[in-house]
Amino acid sequence: MKNKLPHLVALLSLITFSYCSSSKKASSSASNEPVANPSFTYEKDVAPMMLASCSPCHFPESGKKKPLDTYEATAKNIDDIISRVQLPIDHDGYMPFKSKKPSLTDRQIAILKKWQSDKMPK
Ligand code: HEC
Repeated sequence: MKNKLPHLVALLSLITFSYCSSSKKASSSASNEPVANPSFTYEKDVAPMMLASCSPCHFPESGKKKPLDTYEATAKNIDDIISRVQLPIDHDGYMPFKSKKPSLTDRQIAILKKWQSDKMPK
């Protein structure tokens, strides 16, 4: 029993995370299933992640780089986004650029991929 605890803790924090980030109006009927089948949307899941990790550089008010602050821009560049955040951290193309922001977590990357394979719901 003891060695299951870390898994349980991880699972619980995932549940908490998905509850918080889907509190607005999740279309998911199975809100008890944290990672298996949630449907991720741009507004609810992707935009906050982009804002947290890719601003200010890709957010036009202050950023000078290619804008990634809208649904259209994110959708259009999703392949590039997903491949860059998974590059080795010391690779020139790695994002967030020069690690000025924390790397995306495995879970965040999984969300991006799922969002893409779900045809990028708004
Ligand atoms: C500290 C500023 C900074 C942050 C934060 C940052 N980037 Fe960048 N980004 C850059 C710079 C500088 C370049 C241009 C360098 C290059 O092309 O490799 C770039 C280029 C890119 C490109 C290629 C754009 C093009 O015109 O080809 C993509 C896609 C990208 N970033 C995605 C992201 C994503 C996704 C995040 C967040 C996870 C992020 N960036 C965070 C500075 C940043």
